[in-house]
Order: sequence, then structure tokens, then C-alpha cells
Amino acid sequence: MLLSVVSVKVSFAQNGDNGKNRTESVQLIPIETAHSATVFEVGKDNRLHMVYLGSKLPENKEYNQIIGQYRQGTDYSEVSDVVYPASGSQNLFEPAISVRHADGNQSLDLKFVSVQTKQMDKDIKLTEIILKDEVYPFEVHLFYKTYFATDVVETWADIMHEEKGSVRMDKFASAGLYLRGSKFWLTHYHGDWAKEMRPEQTLITHGIKTLDSKLGSRADLFQPPVFMIALGQKAREDAGKVIYGSLEWSGNFRVDLELDNLNNLRVIPGINNYASSFDLPKDSLFTTAKFLYTFSDRGQGQASRQLQRWARDNKILDGNGQRLTLLNNWESTYFDFNEDKLRSLLKDTKSLGVDLFLLDDGWFGNSYPRNNDHAGLGDWQANRKKLPNGIASLVKEATNMGVKFGIWLEPEMVNPKSDLYHQHPDWVLKQAKRPEYYFRNQLVLDLTNPAVQDFIFRIVDTLFTQNPGLAYIKWDCNAVIYNAYSLHESQQGRLYIDYVQGLYNVLKRIRAKYPKIPMMLCSGGGGRVDYGALQYFTEFWPSDNTDPLERIYMQWEYSYFYPAIATANHVTNWGKQPLKYRVDVAMMGKMGFDIPVHDLSAPDLNFCQASVVNYNKIKDIIWHGDQYRLQSPWTNDVASLMYVDRDKMHGVIFNYLVNARYGSGSHTPIKWKGLDPNRKYRIREINLYPGTTSTLKGDDVLSGDFLMTIGYNPKVDASRSSVILVADAVQS
Ligand code: DGJ
Repeated sequence: MLLSVVSVKVSFAQNGDNGKNRTESVQLIPIETAHSATVFEVGKDNRLHMVYLGSKLPENKEYNQIIGQYRQGTDYSEVSDVVYPASGSQNLFEPAISVRHADGNQSLDLKFVSVQTKQMDKDIKLTEIILKDEVYPFEVHLFYKTYFATDVVETWADIMHEEKGSVRMDKFASAGLYLRGSKFWLTHYHGDWAKEMRPEQTLITHGIKTLDSKLGSRADLFQPPVFMIALGQKAREDAGKVIYGSLEWSGNFRVDLELDNLNNLRVIPGINNYASSFDLPKDSLFTTAKFLYTFSDRGQGQASRQLQRWARDNKILDGNGQRLTLLNNWESTYFDFNEDKLRSLLKDTKSLGVDLFLLDDGWFGNSYPRNNDHAGLGDWQANRKKLPNGIASLVKEATNMGVKFGIWLEPEMVNPKSDLYHQHPDWVLKQAKRPEYYFRNQLVLDLTNPAVQDFIFRIVDTLFTQNPGLAYIKWDCNAVIYNAYSLHESQQGRLYIDYVQGLYNVLKRIRAKYPKIPMMLCSGGGGRVDYGALQYFTEFWPSDNTDPLERIYMQWEYSYFYPAIATANHVTNWGKQPLKYRVDVAMMGKMGFDIPVHDLSAPDLNFCQASVVNYNKIKDIIWHGDQYRLQSPWTNDVASLMYVDRDKMHGVIFNYLVNARYGSGSHTPIKWKGLDPNRKYRIREINLYPGTTSTLKGDDVLSGDFLMTIGYNPKVDASRSSVILVADAVQS
């Protein structure tokens, strides 16, 4: 397809006092989606300035009136709103790019050269803006890939030069946003093992707030790369302007949010430059990670639905496909199993009615058997004592029984107690002259090394070649990078970046050969969840914390950014809630079990079996429908969340008591969302525990209008702490 220029030549009628050099004719570059616009202008100074990010204006040319409406003071530098600010010239704030040229000079000032767009398909458009320094042969190409229907923009930069020698890259962000406004509220997340996705909300004050990770491999353990900025006032579910952002990168990231003297917000997201300066040789190209953002002027709910749909349509592997329900053995056996035990778990898988048995950690290692987490990582041969007939016989047995078989791997890691470590000491990231320091008794392999990449690819490939029936991989990653040093790298500053690229190389090779095999992205819980990795994975493991009460909050927070089809939820024995509560919570995403099935009482087993049948009837709505958060667990006795299919014919509504105090419950109706106001819906309660009956009438037929205006009371209280309702449109 031919590239075409989309910029519009306009004249500024009015000029604010933010910049002096913008009084004459400029080129306006609007980057629009169905409801949003990101607007740039080329100033008289030939720099690319950011005018606007917000609701799309029907009258395209009125974007040129925006700047004139601001009277915020003097921008002395005249480059505060430059889109991709560089350091060393006029810029006074946090740069997106910092370099040292081949001659040692540290200045950069990028000027606009051209803009081109390419319609990739009906929905996707790519805009490329070329910027060049006028003194040095140094270029940055900014890319904006817009997904029209879902209002999502992906942006990144290609950095290149033709200087006489190498240019040192000190900072190399993906993009820069400059948001004009009065107040900005930031929601970001922190965590640790079993404490993932804990939200914090703060008014952004002057100075810099940086969200970042320096952990390398299990990069998001303390902070994930997702955040939201509410414009003007705090984010609300169904109203207000909000921008969601995230970096598509599975390693160290950094997002700088800087409120300047004019009260505008500069957002600079990118790969973290921490310990990562490197030399870019002449004629080579560095492509940054992609940064994605979406804007909604209809609150957080709309922004989530946009992002979730975008992820299903464009990013997550097989995002609109099917998923496998499963029985995992981690919580019921840990490392203590043998062939007989696994055989009986295969029978349990069959009896539960789920699709797949997932064999977790502990199946490998012979010189150093993996009987605990101190040994064996790296030696990916079945342990002969535990599994004398190897994996193959189990896969065969599962297949004969009509269940699928999946397996756990942690291929990026090595225990010092392993053959691999002794055979390839040079494959490990460590400082040779310093003592080794372990995270979960293990070290990280040097994925910058193609030989290591090849080794990891072969682990997976051999498993599939030897066991063509293998149907699922759980890919774990339990350690951070300490003592970062690679024997393979010629520039240590590239290590953290090349590690992630090395991981992606392996995943690309796996996907080229095994395009559809479902894989779970796991990292000692949710220690590495991002859209860079999710293009290779069908689902992610949010946390090892499966206490259902905890999960209600955690899944709630994940749901702002990730769709239910990708959120793996397992029923375990964590928490004090009844089995029904635990099962119902797991149903809100991709359901699995990780309980000792043989220990279940007959009614409990019956209930689990019936739940799988019920789940199979509603999973399509949960996986492929639109999600609406109805009532937050943070501020109510009852948390409520619903899914509606695309035709608005069927809805599933999950309700949970989250407050154990006397008299807590659903005292008022809960307003539903997303239904057709003109249709009538029959409401039923499903997934009742054997021997219990619903206290609801059972034959209520109410209009979508009623259900969304007045609401419906699920009658949740201490005796009915978890209630799932379905609403089916009645044919009129
Ligand atoms: C961490 C994962 O999050 C768990 O689910 C389990 O697979 C263990 N690793 C196994 O070591």
C-alpha cells in the first residue's frame, strides 16, 4: 500500500503565551481513533509539538484553536510540549532521549522532516513521523499505530544515525506525551509475591514521579507497567476522562510523569535506562519497546472494555479462541509425587470433567533430583525415580482417558545444583568476582547468548517432538537478576535489553513451530505480566495467592487492563471461604482447579463437577463478551461484576460478600450494565451448592431498562455469600 501524507496546513487564529514561535502557519497532525485524538503540530520552529490528547472533535480543523485557549504562563524553553524531547539543547525537563554523539557532544534537537500514513487494514493505521537533528546525522522515526474501533494507540521509536563512530544511548524512551490540564490523578500499582496489583491513587504534584522496575527477569514483582491517569478529577467507573497506559516490554521499564511549571504533565514511558547505556554503531537501528495507551471520556469501564477487546483482537495469542479448563497438581502435591499419584490425578481430571491435567514443578532432574526448590532447574529430563516411564507414558495415558496433558517449565533459570550449571558455568548471569546471590536458590541464564536461546528452544521442542500429544505449557520465571553481568555481551549496558530480546527470540521460534499451543505466562505468581509477553501466551497467572477474597480485589484490578479470557484462576484450598465461593471466584476468568480432588466429600465433588458443566455453558460470555464492573469491593459490602455477550442477549452477574461484619449484605439493588434497555431478560441463579435452593423467585422477567435503572438484588448475605446470576433475553 502507498504511503500518503495526512497532515493539514492551518493558521493559528490565536496564540497562547506558552510558546512565542507559533504564530504563523503550522502543520497539524491529528492521529485519530473512533472517539479520541492525539494531535501534534509542526511549529514555525520546525519542532513537533503536542497540542492535545482527548476526545475527538467533530470539526477536525478546530484542533488548531486549542492552544490559544491556554494561558498558563511562559514556556521559556519553547520546547516544553515537544513530543519526543531530547536533552542537551533547549529542553529543561525530563528527556525521552539522551545521547552522546561520536564526537562526545551531548546535545540533540530533533526537527520535523515528514509524516506519512499507511492504512494497514480497515481498523489499523500506521503513522510515521521522521525527526532529524540539524547538526548531527541523527534521526528518530516516531510510529503511531492506531486501532480505530477500540481507541487504542501503540507508539514506539526507531533511532538511527550516520555519524562517524558509535553514539552512546543514555535514554531511549518509546514516546512522549504532553497533557495540558489542571489536575492529574495517577493510579498505579505495587506488590510482592502473593500481593500483586495493589492500587494506589495520588494527585500528581510538581516534580517527577517515576514508576519503574530494575529487576530484570521477574520484572514486575514490585511494580507492574500498567497505570492510569485521570484528567481533571479522580477516575470514575462510568464518567470522566482517563488514559490507560502500559509498556509492552517484559523487562525493566520506566515511566516518568513530570508536572511542569505550567501545570502540564509530561509522560515519558520506555525501557528503563538503568545500567543500560550502550553504543549504537553507525548505520544501525534501535527500536524501542511499544507503549500503548487508550483514552476514554466515558470513565474507566469504557477504557477497560476498549483495552480488553483490543487485547483479544490484536495482541493476546488466540485472544478470541477457546481455552482449556484444567486440574493442576502444585498445591495438592508440591514436589511429592510419583507415577501412581499422577495416574490417580489423571483420573481426578477425568472425573472433574475439566479438559487438561497440568503437571507442575518437580518432574525432572536426575543427578540433582528436583525434590525441592534447591536443585534440578536446568536438567529437563524426567526424574527416573518418580517417573520411570517418562513423560511420554503419562501423556499417552491421559490421551487414552480422553484428557489432555500439560507441563510446567522454568527454562530461563538454573539451580547451581544441576548438571547444566556445571556443564555451562558461562551461561549464567553473575559477577565472576563476587559471591553468587540467589533468588529462590537459583540463577538466571544468559538469554543474550544465542547458544542459551537455542538450548531453551530445544527444551520445548524436544518435549513436543517426543510427546506430540502434549497440549499445554506453564512457563514460570521465579528469579530476578542479581549481579547483572553477561560473559557473552560485549557491552554490559545492553544486558537487560538483550535479555528480553533473547526471550522474545525464543518465544518467536516456539510460536513459528507451535503457533497455537496454549501457554500460561507465570512468574512466581504475577511477577511478569505485560503485553510484550502476552503476544506469545494465551493466558497469565495473576498470583499464587488464590484466597478467593484476595482474588476478588486482585482480579478486579487486573480487569482494568486485561481480559478475563487471559486471566487464569484456580480453585485451591487457600482462604476460609466455602468451596462454592472459591469456585465462583475462579469462574470470573479462565477456570482451573488445584485441589486434592480425592479428599473432596461427595457433595463437594458433585458441586465441582456440576460447576464445570455450568462454567462450560457461560464461559463463552466471560471469555468473549464485554465486562462491566458494577460494585467495587473496595467501597461496598458486596462486590459485583458482570459480562454481557456481544449481542446483548445473555449476561452473567457475579456477586460476592466481601465484608464479614454483622448484617453485611446487598441491602439495595445493584444496577446492571451493558444490556439492551428494550429487551426483557429472564433471571436465574446458577451454580447452587447441592441441597441448597435460591432465595430468589427464579422466574423474574425484567426489562434491560429496569435492570440498568433500578437494578436487581442478588440477596447476598452471610448465608449466601456468593451468588451467580444469568440473564437471558426473552424472545418477544
Ligand atoms: C511459582 C508458580 O507461581 C506456582 O504456581 C508454581 O508453579 C511454583 N512456582 C512451582 O515452583
